[in-house]
Amino acid sequence: MNTTPLRVAVTGAAGQIGYSLLFRIASGAMFGPQQPVILQLIEIPDEKAMSALQGVCMELDDCAFPLLKGIVATSNLDEGFKGANWALLVGAVPRKAGMERKDLLGINGKIFTGQGQAIARSAASDVRTLVIGNPCNTNALIAMRNARGVPAQNFFAMTMLDENRAKTQLARKASVDVAAVNNLAVWGNHSSTMFPDFFNARINGRPVPDVISHREWLEKDFITTVQQRGAAIIKARGSSSAASAANAVVDTVRRLTTPTAPGDWFSVAVCADGSYDIEKGLICSFPVRSDGQHWEIVQGVPLNEFSRGKIEATVNELKEERALVKDLLPQ
Ligand code: NAD
Ligand code: LMR
Repeated sequence: MNTTPLRVAVTGAAGQIGYSLLFRIASGAMFGPQQPVILQLIEIPDEKAMSALQGVCMELDDCAFPLLKGIVATSNLDEGFKGANWALLVGAVPRKAGMERKDLLGINGKIFTGQGQAIARSAASDVRTLVIGNPCNTNALIAMRNARGVPAQNFFAMTMLDENRAKTQLARKASVDVAAVNNLAVWGNHSSTMFPDFFNARINGRPVPDVISHREWLEKDFITTVQQRGAAIIKARGSSSAASAANAVVDTVRRLTTPTAPGDWFSVAVCADGSYDIEKGLICSFPVRSDGQHWEIVQGVPLNEFSRGKIEATVNELKEERALVKDLLPQ
C-alpha cells in the first residue's frame, strides 16, 4: 500500500466529463482502494466556470471519500499541475453535430501549448499525461512537444472509449458477454478514420472472424459504427459522450498502471517509435501492454492488406492534422 497521496490534475474539471470522472477517481476506481489521492482541478479563469468548479468541490466534500486527501481548485496552470503525478487533460471545447473532431484544432490546439509548458515546469518528475480533449491525438502531440524535458513516452491520448465501443458491438453480434472479447486494438487517430482491428481481436480466445462469419458486417457496419459512435451520441443526446468517456479515462489509467493479462493488449495512443512502419513522433493508437510500471507497443501483430490500408488512411490523417498545427510545435 502506498500511503503517499497521488496528485491527479484534471483540466476542464467543471465540465461534463469532469462531473463523472472526479468522483470515480476520488472513490478509488482509478488507482485502487488503498491509494489516497489529491485532486488538483483546473478551470478557465471565468466566473461561471470557477463557480461551477466550487460547486463540484462542495459535492466532492459531501461524498466524504476516505481516499480523497485534498482538493485544489484553480485557474492557475502552475498551481494546478504542481507536483502532479498524473495530468488528465479534459478541458477543451467539444464538437457539435456535423463537425469532425479535427475541426476543433483551431480553437483547442493552442490550449495544449501552455498546458504542456506548465506540466514541464511544475509537475512531478514522473508525471504522465493523458489527453482527452479533442482532437486528442494531435492535442497530445502539441502538449508533448511543448513539455521540454518530459519524456515522450509519458504522453498518451485516449482511444479506450473506441475500444470499449468496439468490444460491445462484437459481443452483441456474437451473443456473448462483453468480457469474452479481448485483444481489441484500435489503430490510429481518435476520429472517423480509426481502425478497430477485428482480425486480431478474440472472442473466448478465438479470432473474431472465426466466430462472426458475417464478413461484410465486420468490414463495413462494425467499423463504421465504431468510427461514428461519437457523432451518433451527439445526435441523440445533443451533447457529446461524458459518462462513457470518463469511464474510459478510468480504464486507460488502470490499464497503464496494472499488469496486462498474458497475451492480451489494450488501446491507447502513444508516441510512435517506428513500429509497424508508422512515422516516429506521431501520437498514434496501437495495441499496448503494460507490466504495471512501463508500457510497450505489442510487436508482431499480423496485418493483412485490408488492415494496412485502413491504418495508412488514419496515419495520413494524423500527418494532415500535424501540418495544420505546425506553428504550435516547437522543434
Ligand atoms: P464540456 O464543455 O462539458 O467541459 C469542458 C470544460 O473544459 C469546461 O468546463 C470548460 O470551461 C473547460 N475548459 C475549456 N478550456 C479550458 C482550458 N484551457 N483549461 C481548463 N479548462 C478548460 O466538455 P466535455 O464534454 O467535458 O468534453 C471535453 C473534451 O473532451 C471535448 O473536447 C470533447 O470533445 C472531448 N472528448 C474526448 C473523448 C475521447 O474519447 N477522447 C470522449 C469524449 C469527449
Ligand atoms: C467521442 O468519441 O464520443 C468523443 O470524442 C466526442 C466526440 O466528439 O465524438
